[in-house]
Parts: sequence; C-alpha cells; structure tokens
Amino acid sequence: MNAGILGVGSYIPDNIVTNKDLEKIIDTNDEWIRTRTGIEERRIAPDDIDTVDMAIGAAKDAIKDAGLQPEDIDFIITATVTQTQRHPSISNYVQHAIGSKKIPGMDLEAACSGFMFGVVTAKHFIEAGTYKNVLVIGADKLSKATNWEDRSTAVLFGDGAGAAVLGAVSDDNGILSFELGSDGAGAEFLYEDENHNINMNGSEVFKFAVRQMGYSALSVLEKAGIEKEELDLLIPHQANIRIMNAARERLNLPEEKMIKTVHKYGNTSSASIPVALCDAVRSGKVKDGDNIVLVGFGGGLTWGAVLLRW
Ligand code: ACO
Repeated sequence: MNAGILGVGSYIPDNIVTNKDLEKIIDTNDEWIRTRTGIEERRIAPDDIDTVDMAIGAAKDAIKDAGLQPEDIDFIITATVTQTQRHPSISNYVQHAIGSKKIPGMDLEAACSGFMFGVVTAKHFIEAGTYKNVLVIGADKLSKATNWEDRSTAVLFGDGAGAAVLGAVSDDNGILSFELGSDGAGAEFLYEDENHNINMNGSEVFKFAVRQMGYSALSVLEKAGIEKEELDLLIPHQANIRIMNAARERLNLPEEKMIKTVHKYGNTSSASIPVALCDAVRSGKVKDGDNIVLVGFGGGLTWGAVLLRW
C-alpha cells in the first residue's frame, strides 16, 4: 500500500488587505505588485488570531473532510516558521484543541517547503505501519514577521493555514514519488533577522526558485516513470506568479492545469501548498486518478516535491 491524502482543510482569516490598502502605508502601487508578483490581495489575521488558532481551524476542517474523528489521528506534524511560542509546539496545542488521544505531535521548520517535508515524514510512518492516520498542517502568520517598512517584502506575504490527513490507500494511488532538499549555502538569501523579520535577496531567491521548482517537478515525474503529458495538475508554492509560470512552462502545462491562489492570498509560506490543494479539491478541479505534483521552495534554502495520484 501507499500513503495518500484522505482529507484536506484550510483556515483563511476574513480580513482582506488589498494592494490599494498597502499603497496607504508604504511606497508601492497596485500595478507594481500585480505585474511583479501576481498578488492582488492577501489575508491578514487580527491580533487575537495567531498561528496556532489557524492551525487548529485547518486541522478540524481536514479531519472532517477525511470522514474521521479526532481519536482516529495517530500523529500530528505542523510545519511553520511563525510559532506562537517556541514551545510547547503548535502540534501539542492542536492535539488538545481537537480532542485527540495523547498522541505524539511535533513542529518542523523548513520555511515554505515545510508542508512537503511534513507530508514525506507522514508517508514513511504510514508505510512502515507505525501510524495509521497522520495529520500534517502548514500554518503561518507571516504578518507578524513582516517589516512593514520594507516594501520589497511587505507586499508579498499573507496569513493562513492548510492541513491534510494522510493514511493508507491502494498501491496505485497516493504518493508515488518525492524529492526533498536543502542547501545551506543559500541561507543568506532568505532568513529571519535579529528583529524576527524576514530578510530577503529577492532576485537570488527568484533565480533559485525558477530553477529548482521546474527541476523538482520533473524529477518526481521521472522517479515514478510518469511522462510530462500524463500530469493533470500542478500545485506549486504560491510565492510569485512568474516563478509558478516558469515551472509550469518547464512541464509544458497549459494555464488551467496549474492551481493559482497567489492573487488572493499572497505567499502564506508553510500554508501555501495545502491551502492551494484544499482550494483545488473544493472547487472540483481534482478528479479521481489525477496525477498531481505538489512542489515548493523556501528559505534555507529548501525545496520539496511530491507526485500524488488522487
Ligand atoms: N513597490 C514598488 N517598487 C518596488 C517594490 C514595491 N513593493 N519593491 C521593490 N521595488 C522597486 C525596487 O526598489 C527596484 O527599484 P530600482 O530599480 O529603482 O532599484 C525595482 O522595484 C525593481 O526591483 P527588483 O527587486 O529588481 O524587482 P523584481 O522584478 O526582482 O521583483 C520580487 C522583486 C517580486 C521580490 C522578486 O524578486 C521575487 O519574487 N523574488 C522571489 C521572492 C520569493 O519568492 N520569496 C519566497 C519567500 S519564501 C519564504 O520562505 C517566506
């Protein structure tokens, strides 16, 4: 058997901040943001909703979607770069809030690739027979790590959480191949500075992302012996539409085969891929038997891709 996704969920804060709203607080404009990034608006959570609250919301949604009860979950992994506290972990709070058994939970940090690292970790525990159902969450409140005076980063980010419950599926479905990687030589290009703000060399990250997203997506197809033409859906990390389109073009995919949420949510880091997956499922874009590539990159530098058959 393979590990696969049994249910998906998300939590998106209500508060919309448009590019026009940002024009009022920093020296930027709607046209620059749209053309350079594809972002039109993002969600910013209020002070009383932190990363942990969004993680809990997404977790409950995913468990319900999987048709399971909280006591069916055996392990919780939360990917985040914006912990509410360093410890206890967000996963511990989720365990209590959803009312699961006293199961293990842990947080992991691989920047925007974190959800991919969590999914691959879950896959191994499931396929080894250690745990039956694993809840993987990607949650980030990047607005609290944003320097609102730095226009080169402030326009990019948004808040949100996404989740998936993984469990056993048939040999023909689920995760067919994966790839993860880290390169600390690029640490200086994207990191949290001493004021806990995101610091980024945009053009270096851009070049890395264009190269790596296409390469990782092709690599998971090749590992599973699946041709580019057999790919049904690409769900890339939602950082910048130009980076996403570059990956899509490497795969010769038409626009309608790539899931896009960057225009409405911005870059939500660890949440970006699971939120996009949830959007795709809920909007009916995912069909049984579809070959789907999830692919992300982030600070570290890190990257990760998974080929799933739905
Ligand atoms: N509004 C208006 N002008 C701006 C803004 C802004 N918000 N930000 C920068 N500019 C200006 C710059 O000052 C520069 O002006 P100059 O030419 O007079 O010096 C000009 O716009 C061009 O700036 P560039 O940085 O060259 O613009 P570029 O086309 O490279 O786009 C961007 C910048 C969008 C940041 C791009 O480099 C990018 O997307 N990089 C990757 C970012 C990314 O994906 N990060 C992932 C983070 S993942 C994680 O771990 C959180």
